[in-house]
Amino acid sequence: MSKRLRTTLALIAAGAAAGSLTLFMAPSADAATTLGASAAASGRYFGTAVAANKLSDSTYVGILNREFNSVTPENEMKIDATEPQQNQFTFTNADRIVNHAAAQGMKVRGHTLAWHSQQPGWMQSMEGSALRSAMLNHVTRVATYYKGKVVTWDVVNEAFADSGGGRRDSNLQRTGNDWIEAAFRAARAADPGAKLCYNDYNIDNWTWAKTQAVYTMVRDFKSRGVPIDCVGLQSHFNSGSPYPGNYRTTLESFAALGVDVQITELDIEGSGQTQATTYGNVVKDCLAVARCNGITVWGIRDSDSWRASGTPLLFDGSGNKKAAYTATLDALNGGTTPPTTPPTTPPTTPPTTPPTSPPPTGTGCSATVTLNSWNTGFTATVRVTAGATQVNGWAVTLTLPSGAAVTNTWNAQNTGTTGAVRFANVSYNGRISAGSSTEFGFQGTGTGPTATPTCVAS
Ligand code: G3I
Repeated sequence: MSKRLRTTLALIAAGAAAGSLTLFMAPSADAATTLGASAAASGRYFGTAVAANKLSDSTYVGILNREFNSVTPENEMKIDATEPQQNQFTFTNADRIVNHAAAQGMKVRGHTLAWHSQQPGWMQSMEGSALRSAMLNHVTRVATYYKGKVVTWDVVNEAFADSGGGRRDSNLQRTGNDWIEAAFRAARAADPGAKLCYNDYNIDNWTWAKTQAVYTMVRDFKSRGVPIDCVGLQSHFNSGSPYPGNYRTTLESFAALGVDVQITELDIEGSGQTQATTYGNVVKDCLAVARCNGITVWGIRDSDSWRASGTPLLFDGSGNKKAAYTATLDALNGGTTPPTTPPTTPPTTPPTTPPTSPPPTGTGCSATVTLNSWNTGFTATVRVTAGATQVNGWAVTLTLPSGAAVTNTWNAQNTGTTGAVRFANVSYNGRISAGSSTEFGFQGTGTGPTATPTCVAS
């Protein structure tokens, strides 16, 4: 009998004896006692930012190795660190972290390939096509070097303005609005196996213009086939940028675009139970979203934080577990509730036997709706399936309940936003071969549609 099985059986016996058997709380002995193993029980990782110069600190390394199963180099993979002189690459410090992670079986998140900040001097003074080429060369060289070692890259970091919903002005932005997608394409070409993320701060509150702007970009990228796999929400919370009550909505909404979401730089300024409760809420929100597949805290001890005076982390300066740690671990261990996002498994396949009679003219398609609802809104994923003959265009009409309104649509064009709303195909998804399907989605306020949709083919 394995050690894990023996321990699990012992826990079950102890729980039964105590009259409080809660099997799902203890998938294994480890899962109940460390952040990484508890997250792994639901298929997620729990990581931390790591500084190479702290790998000689035994308290730091002790906590790192015990608690975490993913690392993000805090500064060592940034552009100034990896390409201090143009075309002269230095990976020494980043490699120390990557090698440590490999020896401990930890994943590595790469941070970050293209950013307006922490550029080396030579890049800061560049503009235009020379800068565009240098940026793409950097992305290619670094992603190629770490091929197979970095699981996920923050390809582009912090490209949106803090207010107003536009792009941040920078030398990279001035090379052309397409610099972000160019960076993603270069990263995909260099390492097709890595997951590619857009990473930013203050995109946690669903109502903020910056969040909506990033959402719109990701939706556009998905619709045009720009290779993006994930959105990283840095989630640096403090009094000026507090944990928002609609955080789960934000995670769900990004996920509904067909990308993973990751919490990439979590820290929460504060102390005691207030801070602990917020940590617990963040974890619960992630666990409630199937595609929220990992959380990284931005440092180990409060003293390791870029905002040390705000004591925003899970361990105090001496390495002791804080109340925030306990709340985080508890939330991770209770996180086996079913996700609220639509399942990622494909929907049931359409029947393979052809219908005995051809579908009535002009109605050769059908549609089904999957809803993901919360208190004040919903996202709907609509699957359009062709009948026995190919359709070359389609329109789905859905009737929204009173008070509901469509706010965003992707992979379709809507006419109207309330009542009976018509969604027609866009240029790239009108043609559906016989028996095949395509999907579009929309987001709305209020209650989602429950009436059966109608589908008309052309
Ligand atoms: O290592 C030098 C040291 O030799 C020197 O004496 C000292 C003097 O200032 O600087 C030290 O380098 C500092 C480095 O952190 C290591 O501590 C840099 O000045 C300082 O700028 C750098 O700050 C980093 C910051 O990014 C820079 O933008 C923080 O550590 C790092 O936590 C922070 O991380 C960012 C993410 O990349 C993106 N999201 C926001 C997040 C927090 O700002």
